[in-house]
Amino acid sequence: MTIAEAAVRWDMFDRDIYASPYETFRRLRNEAPVYYNEEYNFYALSRHDDLGNVLTDRETFISGKGMVYNIISNDMEMPAGLFINEDPPLHTMHRSIVSRLFTPRAVASLESKIRALSEEIVDGLEGRDQFDFMRDFALQLPVQVIGMLVGVPKKDQADLLAVFQKTLHEGSVDPDRQLMQGILDSAAWFNDYLDWREKHPTDDVMTQLMKFEFKDETGGTRTLRREEIVTYLTLITTAGSDTTATGISWAGSLLNDHPDQRQELAEDLSLIPRAFEEVLRCEPPSYHYCRWTTKDVELHGQKIPAESIVVLLPGAANRDEDKWEDSERFDIHRDPAQVFTFSFGPHYCLGANLAKIEARIALETFLSKYPEWSVDYDNAVHTKGIDTRGWESLPVIVG
Ligand code: HEM
Repeated sequence: MTIAEAAVRWDMFDRDIYASPYETFRRLRNEAPVYYNEEYNFYALSRHDDLGNVLTDRETFISGKGMVYNIISNDMEMPAGLFINEDPPLHTMHRSIVSRLFTPRAVASLESKIRALSEEIVDGLEGRDQFDFMRDFALQLPVQVIGMLVGVPKKDQADLLAVFQKTLHEGSVDPDRQLMQGILDSAAWFNDYLDWREKHPTDDVMTQLMKFEFKDETGGTRTLRREEIVTYLTLITTAGSDTTATGISWAGSLLNDHPDQRQELAEDLSLIPRAFEEVLRCEPPSYHYCRWTTKDVELHGQKIPAESIVVLLPGAANRDEDKWEDSERFDIHRDPAQVFTFSFGPHYCLGANLAKIEARIALETFLSKYPEWSVDYDNAVHTKGIDTRGWESLPVIVG
């Protein structure tokens, strides 16, 4: 067998593939739509239709064992209320409580505050001809927005940033200790914060959540327990900050690589929402997410046994050539279509609208001030995780 004929191989720990996964994803779609990795004992799906079918069949493909590889393969126990890792009836109950924070009205009401924060961040870059697009810009806004959403005072938001970065970036590399430690650190931080908030109630959503009464799974009416609120806050912060920042930073590199399209955007900011959809299609911040099979499944003539880890690859499905013409090409004028960046079905990202509003405003503010920039790829660094994929550092030169 020549090297060219070697069977396609993918795993989430391979750093070379992580740096540039799209040729491997193309081969997975075409040569191994049900790919089995013996070393890590998982199946991977890469075709658009397959992700759509799996994500809507919650009898067969469940989230209750965890939704990322390290959590499932290490059989980690997760705190109750971390509903991204739950199935009905618990998922339905917890999601409906937290979705109160994300109604279209609640999110739209944040717009002018998000714009003020974004302008302040861009103003802070004044006078510098080099900075880090990720660390100095993209990462700042989502943390401050989440801080504002859950009522964390601005002076404490830097601590919050440090805690969640530890959870995500260090955590997903060393699953046994650091992921759990990061979650525990976040929980401890929010516990202290809630002590303070109880003594300083306001009319913000956090205080409302603390008073909220609902029917639980036993049919009794009660308010939320402290540990449930802490878990919700940990989930929102970890799910919502790094992912959004990563999405904005992909816009920084993709627009750098396509200066003609960047110029079009800078000249007509109303093109930004569709352009950001295209950024999320081409470079989804979510590298993989998983389900667990409850029974044997037959797909493309191959059996996936019950109790298997099924890894879903949004970055592969988003470039399926059966779905998009010239699917590898970045094109800000593409019609938006179903992508899997925010998942699909019952676990569809609760913060998708918020993330899109933040990115739109961030890019409007940035492009108004900096219509051109140049990425210093020699010194750019990819994230180290395996669940998300983006830039940990993206140095740029402006002006
Ligand atoms: C570009 C930014 C974002 C991306 C790429 C993203 C991606 C995802 C994905 C892939 C899932 C579902 C995983 C699965 O099906 O197992 C998810 C769920 C979730 N996301 Fe996001 N997310 C983003 C922003 C946000 C924001 C801003 C928030 C909140 C502030 C948020 C909160 C959540 C929550 C609470 C869930 C759990 C939903 C459920 O299980 O029912 N996300 N996100």
